[in-house]
Formats: sequence, structure tokens, C-alpha cells
Amino acid sequence: MTSVQIVILAAGQGTRMRSSQPKVLHKLAGKPLLGHVLDVAAAVSNTPPVVIYGHQGKLLHESFSRHNVTWVEQPQQLGTGHAVQQALPNIKEQDRVLVLYGDVPLISVETLKRLITVTPDKALGMLTATLENPTGYGRIKRDAQNKVVGVVEEKDASVAERAIKEINPGIYFVPATLLKKWLPALANNNAQKEYYLTDIISQAARENIAIHTEQPAMSEEILGINDRVQLAQIERFQQKRFAEKLMRQGVTIIDPARLDVRGEVDIAQDVTLDVNIILEGDVSIGEGSTIGANCILRDVKIGKRVEIKPNSVIEGATIGAESIIGPFARVRPGTVLAANTHIGNFVEVKNSAIGEGSKVNHLSYIGDSEIGKQVNVGAGTITCNYDGANKHKTIIRDSAHIGSDTQLVAPVTIGEGATIGAGSTITKDVPPNALTLSHRLEQRTKQSWKRPQKKDK
Ligand code: UD1
Ligand code: CA
Repeated sequence: MTSVQIVILAAGQGTRMRSSQPKVLHKLAGKPLLGHVLDVAAAVSNTPPVVIYGHQGKLLHESFSRHNVTWVEQPQQLGTGHAVQQALPNIKEQDRVLVLYGDVPLISVETLKRLITVTPDKALGMLTATLENPTGYGRIKRDAQNKVVGVVEEKDASVAERAIKEINPGIYFVPATLLKKWLPALANNNAQKEYYLTDIISQAARENIAIHTEQPAMSEEILGINDRVQLAQIERFQQKRFAEKLMRQGVTIIDPARLDVRGEVDIAQDVTLDVNIILEGDVSIGEGSTIGANCILRDVKIGKRVEIKPNSVIEGATIGAESIIGPFARVRPGTVLAANTHIGNFVEVKNSAIGEGSKVNHLSYIGDSEIGKQVNVGAGTITCNYDGANKHKTIIRDSAHIGSDTQLVAPVTIGEGATIGAGSTITKDVPPNALTLSHRLEQRTKQSWKRPQKKDK
């Protein structure tokens, strides 16, 4: 059976990035450039892609260890034709080969599927695009009948050829048999002394192999990233697309230029996102919730009608419906908040479950805890969960009331309906429904005391 074998070229040095990191590991919308292309490849073909790499193979293999990839090294970058040639031993005779680039991350599944479906079996398919400014790209040459006859690289082009605005994005769909015949015969007698993959176009024309051209659905899809300026431009473009998609789904975004999505987001209707929000990893937000300015949400599940107030940082947590969080709250991994909970300013919660209707409103640390329903934790309460070697658990049962400035030294359990007096240090389990407070010095007043006065100089 014929299958689509994708070959991704990623061996180029990426010199203009001026980086010690391989170019394809630089991130776009939180994901490495090559990760974008691998995801598109997986949506287009079930056959694992061949990735041609040149440098830091170990780092690349590690970075994409969860992807099913056939890695092939091209130790010396002798040109795009030479690069694809390295993949040939891994390609079956009956396959058709789709060539992609590790540094062209926006190429869409839609465009590639169209190229694959529409290109006749024995033909050579390729994308072309017409650009106002074609500088830097290979130009498409057509004959009097408008049939493609070749691609000329800018460095090899005459003045007349440089005026051509139809360019070569470098994405081709070719029967493997043709590549196996043509690539070993490529020559490098050109301006760059490289083995050009583009020479297969003129070769096809000479052999009367049909050349089928398709245009990308969106012109930006074919943009390659060569330096950090282009990386930032494409980042903004991609973020604008994410924001527009969300707005069309019914999300209010106060300023689409000040939202950054770096992962998979699922945001319901009538959610409002204020300015300077970063959404990372898997984020879902339920209907009618509002996220205040300057919040960072990473791997969180937020229920309906939740209010996250400004400057809150929430990671690895589940927030129940109608809860109110922040401003300035820090909610850390392993936290599960039930419906209608309140986490206030300068409160840190880690690896804790907090029951329905409970409140921790001010200046507290809740770690490794299990808090029941309708509990009120007073200002400045600290769960002392760490003895210097191990972490211990604090359990607070339903309807307990923890007075301000309490230290709960774990492991410890506070009974249902218990009240803890302010300023207590609780080291033993507390019975339900009673007032417990630790030893306090009796309060004294010195009537004779005088406030110090400033001395005259
Ligand atoms: C290539 C095309 C040009 C097209 C342009 C689109 C050729 C000869 N020219 O030119 O017509 O308009 O892309 O962007 O194909 N690579 C390797 N190994 C190599 C050389 C390159 O893996 O030996 C990879 C690079 O990492 C890069 C891609 O191939 O991802 C393109 O290489 P690059 O040198 O940027 O090609 P261009 O000169 O831009
Ligand atoms: Ca390029």
C-alpha cells in the first residue's frame, strides 16, 4: 500500500539565531518549532516521519523522546537535496514523500492534506505562493503554457528572474521512486555549491512528469524562522490567531495583544480574560468565569463562574465553581478546591483539598492539608507541614474556625466545629465543638509607662 512518508529537514545550523541551542528547539507558543511540525506530521500521516538533523542529536532525541520519529543524521549540510537523500534508505519504493521543514512551524494540516489529495498519483506536487516581496526565496519558472519548468534560487537568478513574484515555499509531495532516481544524480555546480532539492523540479519538467501546484490556505503558513526577530513576529501572529479563535467561541478578551497561550486551552462561553494573562499547558475555564489582570494559569481546571482576581499564579490545581481566588494568591500543584471556596490575598496553598464554602482569606500557608466544608481559616494561619526532613498532614474537619495567627504543627487533626483561639500553636489533635487555645501570657497594662519623646538637638 502507498503511504505518505514525511521527511522533515532540520539539519541547518540556524546561525542567525545566535544560539547554543539548535534552532528547532526554540519555542513558538510554548512548544519547540520542530514540535509544531511533528504534530502537523502526525495529523497528516500515520507513518512516523524521518527527521534529518545535523547537530546536537542527543539533545534533539531527548527533547522529542515521546514522539515516534526516525532520526537520520546529515553530518555535513551539503544542501536540501543532499538532506533528503540521507532519508532514502528509510523510504519504501511505493511511498510518496512529503518534504517539510523544522523551521516552518505554521504549515497547516489543511493545506498539506489538500496537496496530498489533489496531486495525481504519478505527478510531482508542490506548494507555491505569490508574494509582494519575494526576496530570499527560490522563484518559480513557468513556460508559455504556464507549466512549471523549474525553480531558480535567488543567488543564481538573473535580474529578470528575480522579478518573478511566485515563489517556492520548499514543500513538495513526490513519489519515492522519482527521488530515488533523481537525488543520487544531483550536481552542485551552482552559486552556493550545494545539492539543491529544487533541481528535481526542472528534472520532472524534462521527463514530462506532471507538476501540480497548490497554494497554502494562509500566506503566513510558509514563513520560515531564521532569526529571533522572525520568531517574535510569528509568535505574535500565532497569538493573534489563538485570541481570535477564542473570541469567536464567545470569550471576551479585553486586549487580544496581551494574552499569551502556551498550550491547549478549553475556554467556555462568557469567560472574560483581562490583560496580561499567560495560559500554559492544559487549561480549562468554565462558563462565566473571569480572570483578572496579570494572572498566570498553568495546567489548571477552573469551574463555572469562578473569579480569579489580579496577580494570581495558579498551577496544577482544580478550582470549583463560584470560587473567588486572589488578588495575589498562589495556588500550587496538587490543590483541589471545592465549589464556592475563597482564597484571598497573600495566601499560598499547596497539595491540599479544601471543601465547599471554606475560606482562607488572608496571609496564610496551607500545605499538605485536608480542609472540610464551611471552615474559616483566620489571617496568618500557617500549617507547619515540614519538620526539616518529612512532610506531614493537617486535617481540619467541617465548620471548624481557626483563629488568626495560628500555627498548626502537623501531623494534626482539628475536630468538626472546633474553634482555635487566635495566636495558638497547636501540636496535638483538637476535639470537636470546643474552644482550644494554647498557653497565653496574661495581658498586662503599665499605667506608668510613657512614650519616648524626641530629644531636642
Ligand atoms: C530553500 C529552497 C528555496 C525555497 C526556500 C524556502 C533549495 C535549494 N532552496 O532555500 O527554493 O524558496 O527553501 O524557505 O532547496 N537543510 C538541511 N540540510 C542541508 C540544507 C538545509 O537539513 O544541507 C534544511 C534547513 O535546516 C532548513 C531547510 O532545509 O530547514 C531549508 O534550508 P535553507 O538553507 O534555509 O534553504 P533556502 O536557501 O532558504
Ligand atoms: Ca530558509
